[in-house]
Amino acid sequence: MKSSDSPPILDQCKTIELPKISDPRGNLTFIEGGRHVPFEIRRVYYLYDVPGGAERGGHAHKGLHQLIVAMSGSFDVVLDDGREKKRYHLNRSYNGLYVCPMIWRELDNFSSGSVCMVLASNHYDEDDYYRDYAQYLVAQEIAP
Ligand code: TYD
Repeated sequence: MKSSDSPPILDQCKTIELPKISDPRGNLTFIEGGRHVPFEIRRVYYLYDVPGGAERGGHAHKGLHQLIVAMSGSFDVVLDDGREKKRYHLNRSYNGLYVCPMIWRELDNFSSGSVCMVLASNHYDEDDYYRDYAQYLVAQEIAP
């Protein structure tokens, strides 16, 4: 099957509703690797103290699976498979955005005091990144 006939990988990315234990003392959410996210969790990182107007991301991963959660405040994630883009507004700590490999992502519109937590399927590896959009399009067989 030619890649142009395959279902768009953007459709594999989706918002996941995480378990929420509501309690008058405060709510509790938990995430188990392989159960609530479709990968085992090998790394956690978070963005915080993001200045107003800043943009993060601007890259794709070759093999990494991720779940992005707005732990506090809100921000937008724009997912792009080279053909189509979709903007998600994340503002609930019991929702996560699953991002499969080979998706270009940009994060912007961070609210003051927001915290963006990312669960990742592997350790940090710079070789897993496409940081150049033109190279990413070549890898996606969109540009020659
Ligand atoms: P980067 O992934 O470009 O940030 P973002 O996509 O969130 O805007 O990473 C920024 C810098 O931090 C870069 O020099 C690599 C480094 N880094 C690590 O050392 N370990 C990590 O787990 C991550 C995510 C980044």
